Amino acid sequence: MAEFKQAPVGATAGQKFMTWVDNRFPATKLWNEHAAEYYAPKNFNFWYFFGSLALLVLVIQIVTGIFLVMNYKPDAALAFSSVEYIMRDVPWGWLIRYMHSTGASAFFIVVYLHMYRGLIYGSYRTPRELVWIFGCLIFLCLMAEAFMGYLLPWGQMSYWGAQVIINLFSAIPFVGPDLAILIRGDYVVGDATLNRFFSLHVIAVPLVLLGLVVAHLIALHEVGSNNPDGVEIKAGPKDANGHPLDGVPFHPYYTVHDILGVAGFLIVFTAVIFFMPEFGGYFLEYNNFIPADPFKTPPHIAPVWYFTPFYSMLRATTDDMLKVFNVIVIVAAALSILKGKFSSAGKLAILVGTVVLLLGFGAFKFLGVSALSGCDAKFWGVLVMGGAVVILAFLPWLDNSPVKSIRYRPDWHKIVYGVFVINFCILGYLGVQPPSEIGGVVSQVGTLLYFGFFLLMPWWSQLGTFKKVPDRVTFTPH
Ligand code: HEM
Repeated sequence: MAEFKQAPVGATAGQKFMTWVDNRFPATKLWNEHAAEYYAPKNFNFWYFFGSLALLVLVIQIVTGIFLVMNYKPDAALAFSSVEYIMRDVPWGWLIRYMHSTGASAFFIVVYLHMYRGLIYGSYRTPRELVWIFGCLIFLCLMAEAFMGYLLPWGQMSYWGAQVIINLFSAIPFVGPDLAILIRGDYVVGDATLNRFFSLHVIAVPLVLLGLVVAHLIALHEVGSNNPDGVEIKAGPKDANGHPLDGVPFHPYYTVHDILGVAGFLIVFTAVIFFMPEFGGYFLEYNNFIPADPFKTPPHIAPVWYFTPFYSMLRATTDDMLKVFNVIVIVAAALSILKGKFSSAGKLAILVGTVVLLLGFGAFKFLGVSALSGCDAKFWGVLVMGGAVVILAFLPWLDNSPVKSIRYRPDWHKIVYGVFVINFCILGYLGVQPPSEIGGVVSQVGTLLYFGFFLLMPWWSQLGTFKKVPDRVTFTPH
């Protein structure tokens, strides 16, 4: 048994209590490692609010979720009216429900901004690859959590949105139709689907999410935070105690700093809850105030705004788009074989891969052989949609820029990032709109731009004249 430490002579009751605890549980050690003696760069700006805000929203969602479950009924015959009951009869039920529904959108706003910060400051690069990958897994979980939560009120959009998305899985060759039945637990979305989504939404996914957030923070505290200059403070000068001179203890400096972010966030969050909880149909869709009716398909089914950029990419993947994919694959393969520095085996692998892809896209359909007709455009749409999320995890290995932060990159890189953001927003906007011819073409161009940004990054990220990165972080006391 480890030897017990004694509280110093004249210690207060509180100090004595903490000594008692610390002899049994590393409370002070954990606090010091992760707060009082965790040295974070002193040049954090407002972009660094969003990590702590994501934590805050996570807590809001869990606490409000616990109270919602007390009155919600996961039963297809009762779910819709139990939500109405919460809104009208349960004391403060409306507030809890609006906090939870607004919290879902707030979560995505905060997380998108948090991810964007990582993108512009190169926070995904060595040594923070795992911080980023845990983040990408969190993002996936968050999407699953939001999707399953949206079925629970059992409104028209809940029902038909789930129907459309689950049906997508049936496009996967061989296993698709069975997989869709497995997810639904029935041949159509029904009571079994509602029950399993409830169970996953309330316990399984939140548990995984919490575990991933802990892993995300442990990984971050192992390597230390990045900052707007992309300068590693651990590699810089240190004081007599070995603490980086460019760092400040997280507590109290950033705990206090983050209160400003929390205050700003709560002003906006409460304003939305009290004055515009539906947010013009973006946070709570109007069709979802109509109970689910399996016999009546709404004329226009659109997912909630945070899914729509990806939904647009799914809709953009039509038969015509597959023809464009054929051309891109052929050009990419020809360039790699002719210009790339691959061995003969490598070139052969590229050739085989190209033929397989062309077969899949149905490039040889014109031969009239059914075995060569390729996969359905819907299947490729699902892959494109999933790929748009998965590709984020590869960022650490796609970016070849000699500097981390956007501050020291060529100015035109800022335009590239700007175009990426505008394009993502346009895709999001188009995903809410009913399909149209012009919207379809814009989504197709947008999809190519989105993937082009990532897939061509190894090439463009190293082009241009880079500015000199300073040895120390840039910081003006204020
Ligand atoms: C529930 C969701 C999330 C929570 C609660 C969360 C929490 C945090 C916190 C508290 C920090 C430290 C403070 C800060 O740097 O802002 C952080 C850093 C970071 N997070 Fe997240 N995060 C979440 C999702 C994500 C996602 C989806 C990604 C990316 C795909 C991501 C990538 C990062 C990166 C790269 C850092 C280090 C940033 C730096 O040092 O510059 N996080 N996260």
